[in-house]
Amino acid sequence: MKTHNIFADTIFETNVLLMDSEYNFIKNTKYIPYLSKGGNESDDKQILNHIELKSLKIKIINQLTIYVYNILKVDPKIKFYMTGSWVNKYTSKDGAGVHCHPYSYMSGVYYVDVPNNSGDIHFYKRSSYLAGGSPLMYSEANSFNSNKYHIKPKKGDLLFFSSDMLHSVNPNLSDKERYSIAFNFFIKGDLGQEPYGVSI
Ligand SMILES: [Fe+2]
Repeated sequence: MKTHNIFADTIFETNVLLMDSEYNFIKNTKYIPYLSKGGNESDDKQILNHIELKSLKIKIINQLTIYVYNILKVDPKIKFYMTGSWVNKYTSKDGAGVHCHPYSYMSGVYYVDVPNNSGDIHFYKRSSYLAGGSPLMYSEANSFNSNKYHIKPKKGDLLFFSSDMLHSVNPNLSDKERYSIAFNFFIKGDLGQEPYGVSI
């Protein structure tokens, strides 16, 4: 007997170190309030292009390379490039509602400073006909019956996930500020094969 767990949604998780100079640069950048939700975001939406964060960006790209080519087995002819990166600064009660990242193929988040109880990230199953549409009771949660999954991040954690994956962030219930950097990647290269493939 075996169970086929097909069409997996994957979230890549690792941890990379942040230098003190990078930490200070992130904390001291200019922040503006989110228009549609709580919290603040960096005014700069290409924050990882600053020379001060060059080392961090290289580490993120290196980990993305491992994920997409070694694990997802994307054809090496397809290249990923970062289209945007910004800092999220959440103070008391700030969080993020359920959303995904449009105009993007792969997204990620790097946790700069994560005080205790400052908000886990939740991911949601795209299709939940059995688990959500016809709700059943389960004796325990597992990857076969759950329609929601959460990760409790710590400082230095780095996540990658498909940009169309719905996610949210719980409110910051600590009395300290929480900083994370979000970023998006798009793809270029030879996609598909003749006669319907495209080169972008
Ligand atoms: Fe997000």
